[in-house]
Amino acid sequence: MNYPNLNEARKRTKEKVEYCVNDYAFSSIFQGKKYFLRTYGCQMNEHDSEEMKGILEFLGMSPCEDLENADVILLNTCAIRENAHDKVFGYLGRIKHLKEERPDVIVGIGGCMSQEESIVEEIHKRHPYVNFVFGTHNIHELGNLLIDAKEGEQDILVYSKEGEVYEGVKYKRDSSITAWVNIIYGCDKFCTYCIVPYTRGKERSRKLENIVKEVQALKEEGYMEVTLLGQNVNAYGKDFQDGTEFSDLLEAVAQTGIPRIRFVTSHPWNFTDRMIDIIAQYDNVMPYIHLPLQSGSTSILKKMGRRYTKEEYLELYQKMKKKIPGVAITTDIIVGFPGETEEDFQSTLDVVETCQFDGAYTFIFSPREGTPAAKMKDDTPIHVKEERLYRLNERINFYSKMNNEKLLEQVVPVLVLGVSEKDSTKVYGYTDTMKLVNIQASKDTIGSIIPVKITEAKSFSLDGEYQIENT
Ligand code: SAH
Ligand code: SF4
Ligand code: F3S
Repeated sequence: MNYPNLNEARKRTKEKVEYCVNDYAFSSIFQGKKYFLRTYGCQMNEHDSEEMKGILEFLGMSPCEDLENADVILLNTCAIRENAHDKVFGYLGRIKHLKEERPDVIVGIGGCMSQEESIVEEIHKRHPYVNFVFGTHNIHELGNLLIDAKEGEQDILVYSKEGEVYEGVKYKRDSSITAWVNIIYGCDKFCTYCIVPYTRGKERSRKLENIVKEVQALKEEGYMEVTLLGQNVNAYGKDFQDGTEFSDLLEAVAQTGIPRIRFVTSHPWNFTDRMIDIIAQYDNVMPYIHLPLQSGSTSILKKMGRRYTKEEYLELYQKMKKKIPGVAITTDIIVGFPGETEEDFQSTLDVVETCQFDGAYTFIFSPREGTPAAKMKDDTPIHVKEERLYRLNERINFYSKMNNEKLLEQVVPVLVLGVSEKDSTKVYGYTDTMKLVNIQASKDTIGSIIPVKITEAKSFSLDGEYQIENT
């Protein structure tokens, strides 16, 4: 048994990052079996699930939508907030019943919750029917874990080590139009509220040439868009200690000529002028930046360990707006951080009024075991926090709609991704500024970038019509 350890996970030593090539275990015993995979959390987890699917299908399995019909059940979990935990344990209850009826079903728990010692202990003690637990550093070993489970072994395979960089991953991508591309793993920022540096290990970048090769190959396969992924993309290359930075990578990726490039997430700290220039300079780097604010109060930002002040955030924001024509900026905000006063909260609202964000994800602070903020004195009652969240969301939605309304009657390029969920006579896609548009257009447009005239603006989406060009 190999329990994860949050104290160990906190350590960052000078240990060299290992660059490895995947060598997946193969066995034919899973041929024709069905797997059910449920993913929680962020884009990083979505993309990790694409790796898990790649491994499962390499073993000859195919996906199934129904838990009840599955031979293998995997949950790829998230640990960012308490409700993420609750959802997984709720689901485990359902799986328990299933296991009673069909003991042969193999159940595995992966993702960020697997990196938390208390969770692994709880699974081990209270949910002994779970066949294996595997961490975010052990996805490539999924094949071995399944083979062991078939032989009746129970495994807990979670490293608290700093991490490796694996190449040659077999992804089964969810889309044939847009693709995620990992550029940097882990996080070294240790914002005081956040569990991610513990669950994902040390910041380590993939080699620039490997990323460019992956994008090139995606382009050749016909992909229209890549999203470069990292908890903090502008930390890219720092670990090489040779002066490489995110702007170098972004430029190299732009030069592949893939039609659209996006990236998430950018930290406001260390976002260099050159990064802004490259975004402005290349037409295929989309004018859209997700720039988490977290709080507009400098004293709360300090307690959060965010490394910027309210003024520095605003300065960066204005610079981006000025230098990148038509840029859309979205953000993340936490309310009710320990010690947040009404005045602090007003500072957050003040930044929202100034920046008029295109959109925001807003959260109530959730204490995460093992993080410094979980131990800070927090005497704001929950109803006050809820009321702040409500007031904040009202302003966020107001500006989101206002920004959407600016597009009314304009013709904008939209990459069409599929048939609209709500109305099967329509298709949906995203503008270069990452706004969702439902479009009256034929299914033949899926996979293309088409001109769309915006006819209606709501808070969270737009409606539009395909402007067929006269050629
Ligand atoms: N790397 C990204 C964030 C990843 S987590 C960044 O630095 O911006 C996504 C968002 O979840 C964070 O931006 C933050 O707003 C929120 N979050 C993280 N930990 C949280 C916690 N303990 N309670 C509430 N929200 C949290
Ligand atoms: Fe968490 Fe901060 Fe790292 Fe983002 S930068 S993942 S919020 S520690
Ligand atoms: Fe959740 Fe892990 Fe992402 S904690 S938000 S899945 S990095």
